[in-house]
Amino acid sequence: MAKAKTTAFFCKECGYESAKWMGQCPACGEWNTLVEEPVAPKSGSSSQARRPGPLIKSKPALLSEISIEEKDRVTTGYQELDRVLGGGVVSGSLVLVGGDPGIGKSTLLLQVCRNLSATGQKVLYISGEESLKQIKLRANRVGQVTGDLKFLCETSLDHIQEIISGEKPDIVIIDSIQTMYREEISSAPGSVSQVRESTNLLMQIAKGEGITIFIVGHVTKEGVVAGPRVLEHMVDTVLYFEGDRHASYRILRGVKNRFGSTNEIGVFEMREQGLVEVENPSEFMLSGRPEGASGAVVACAMEGTRPILLEVQALVTQSNLGIPRRTAAGTDYNRVNLLMAVLEKRCHYEMSRYDAYVNIAGGMRMNEPALDLSIIMALVSSLKDRPVDEKTIVFGEVGLSGEVRAVSMAQQRVNEAVKLGFEACVLPKICLDKMKKNDQIRLIGVSNVREAMGIL
Ligand code: TYD
Ligand code: MG
Repeated sequence: MAKAKTTAFFCKECGYESAKWMGQCPACGEWNTLVEEPVAPKSGSSSQARRPGPLIKSKPALLSEISIEEKDRVTTGYQELDRVLGGGVVSGSLVLVGGDPGIGKSTLLLQVCRNLSATGQKVLYISGEESLKQIKLRANRVGQVTGDLKFLCETSLDHIQEIISGEKPDIVIIDSIQTMYREEISSAPGSVSQVRESTNLLMQIAKGEGITIFIVGHVTKEGVVAGPRVLEHMVDTVLYFEGDRHASYRILRGVKNRFGSTNEIGVFEMREQGLVEVENPSEFMLSGRPEGASGAVVACAMEGTRPILLEVQALVTQSNLGIPRRTAAGTDYNRVNLLMAVLEKRCHYEMSRYDAYVNIAGGMRMNEPALDLSIIMALVSSLKDRPVDEKTIVFGEVGLSGEVRAVSMAQQRVNEAVKLGFEACVLPKICLDKMKKNDQIRLIGVSNVREAMGIL
C-alpha cells in the first residue's frame, strides 16, 4: 500500500501547494519561494474548518428580503481609520493590518482598543510578541484606558479559542498572526500552513460568533505579509500601514475591502504619546516649504476621493559625466526620464547635458500621472533658475507629444487649492472647459507643455 504523503511544498509568497520542489512558483512566478512543510491533516474537522460561518442550513433569499442594518458598523474613534474601513468596522469581520515591523501597528490597534472599550465594547487584546509588562508600558504612553479592555499573552490558538468562547468579547486583536500556532499542525509558527490554518480558525470564530477580529501581519522584505497572499484571500479587509520610518507620518491604505471602496487612505502622525490623526494632510505635507526657491512646484494628487497637495522638487545641474545622473525619490524613475525626453524633444531644452534629481518633499510616494505637469514645471524652473509663484498649484498628465491631458476629479483638486489659500491653478485646458467658474482662484488652462512653460 502506498504511504500517505506527510509533507508538501508551499510557496512562501502565494501559498501555492505542490507535490515536488520547483525553482519557480507556477502560480505567482516568484523564484526560490517553495519550502517543504508538513501537510495539514485532511480530516473531517479540517474541512469543516474551511467553511466560514456557523454550520446552519442556509436557504436562498430574494434581495428584497435581505436587510442591511447600518448599526452593524462600529466607529473606531478615528475618522481616518473609519474612512479606510468604509465608514466604521463591520461587526463580525476579519481585518488584516499589515506593515513593516516597528511602523506602529500595535500602537494603532491598542489605541483603537482603548476607544472601543470606552464606548462600551468588550475588547480582548492577544499578544504573542510582547509581555503584559511591555503592553502596559505602551498603554501608559498612549493615555488612559477605561472600560472593558483585557490583555492576554498567548500563542496557542486552540487555547485562545477556548478563552474567546468563555469571555465572549466583541472585538479581538491578534498581534501577530506569525506568532500563532495550532497544535494539530506540526510546522513552525509563521510557516505557510500554520498561518493559513490559524486564519481559517479565526475566520470561523469571527463569522460563527459575530466577533470582529483584527489580525496583525508583518510584512517581509519583499513587501508582502509572510505567508500571506493566502491570508489576503481569506480575510474581509486588508489594510497596510506604511510610511518612512524616519518621517513621523504614517499612511493607512485599504488594499482590499469587502465592505467599502479600497482606494481610501488615512493619515496619522507618530508622536511621543502615540498616533495622532492628521485631518489635513495637505497642510502637513506643505509645512516648511522654502520661499522663492526655484525648482519647487505644488502639485495636487488624489488618494482615493481625497486630494492631497504636495511639493514636487527638482534640481537640475550641469553634468560632468558622459551619462547624466538622474534620480527620482517618491515618484517613478522611468516616468521622470520620459518627461525629460518630452522636454528635450518638444521644448528643445538640452536635458541630456544636465543631471536631474526629482523629489516629492515629505517622503510621500506618489505615482499619479497628474503629477507629470508639476514635475516638468519643476525641472524647467530649476533649469532656468526661475521660481514658480508660491501661490500657484499645477496638475495635469503629459503625453508623449507634449500635450497636456485631462485628469480625473479636477474640481476637487481646485477646491483643495482654494481651501489652502492658493491663488492660481495651472490645469489641463480640457478640464477647465468643463469646470464651473470660480472667482476665488485664477484658473489657467494649458493644452501643451510649451504653453505651460510660457507661464514660468
Ligand atoms: P509598534 O506599534 O510597536 O510597531 P509594530 O507593532 O508595527 O511593530 O511601534 C513601535 C514604534 O513606535 C517604536 O519605534 C516607538 C514608536 N512609538 C512612538 O514614537 N510613540 C509612542 O507613543 C509609541 C507607543 C511608540
Ligand atoms: Mg507590534
